[in-house]
Amino acid sequence: MQLTDEQLQRAADFVRSYLRRTASSKESHKAEFRAENRWQHSLNVQKNIRALADGEGIPSDSRAVCDLAALFHDVDHYTVDYEYHGLRGAETATHFLLSEGYPPPFVERVAEAIRRHHNEFEDDVPLEDQMRAIVTNASLEARLLMDAETLDKIGASNIIQSLLTLGRIGTKPINVAARELVAGFPLERAHEWYRTLITPTGRRIGAQRLAFYEQFLAQIESEIVIEDPYPERAPQDI
Ligand SMILES: [Fe+2]
Ligand SMILES: [Fe+2]
Repeated sequence: MQLTDEQLQRAADFVRSYLRRTASSKESHKAEFRAENRWQHSLNVQKNIRALADGEGIPSDSRAVCDLAALFHDVDHYTVDYEYHGLRGAETATHFLLSEGYPPPFVERVAEAIRRHHNEFEDDVPLEDQMRAIVTNASLEARLLMDAETLDKIGASNIIQSLLTLGRIGTKPINVAARELVAGFPLERAHEWYRTLITPTGRRIGAQRLAFYEQFLAQIESEIVIEDPYPERAPQDI
């Protein structure tokens, strides 16, 4: 099955307006901003999943499943507790796609990927064991969606997100934002996400993104004077 541009547009129209509506009904504070960011993340995930599909050489009907699963995967981010957003999102996607006339077995594959995309990790169980359990039962499309999601947490996306969170641009001087970015935590988190990548293509793209991230941090340290070398002195000491 190959999706038409019109089919993708209709799905996008639905998800974008659903996110806007539900974000503002749950909490009005910055609702529009959060809905736009969530939609942007969904677009990034769709771009990532297409790159993964190319790299893994998957058949065209799987690509169609992936395309729609990516657009819908966080559709219910604002309607239920976070741990249930995959389950509810699968229901919302199923309802929409069936009403649009998609074949039920195809719709179930989209729903399955959305249902499975979100995983909670336990601190006291080795990550590799948890990943093995997750991968064992997951469909091809679910595995690609998990990797597409993870890749959006590594690299350029992570840098921008970290700066927005850490730096609160406009209220902190550049050297303070730079110091917090190179302090280690955001990069450490990106490395942890990298360890959860499943597919060979996901790990290859993830490694490229991490290398870019490290290069960017090294560039910051080579360009920006993070600590002022001239301590301020009290007037009587001058
Ligand atoms: Fe997501
Ligand atoms: Fe999600």
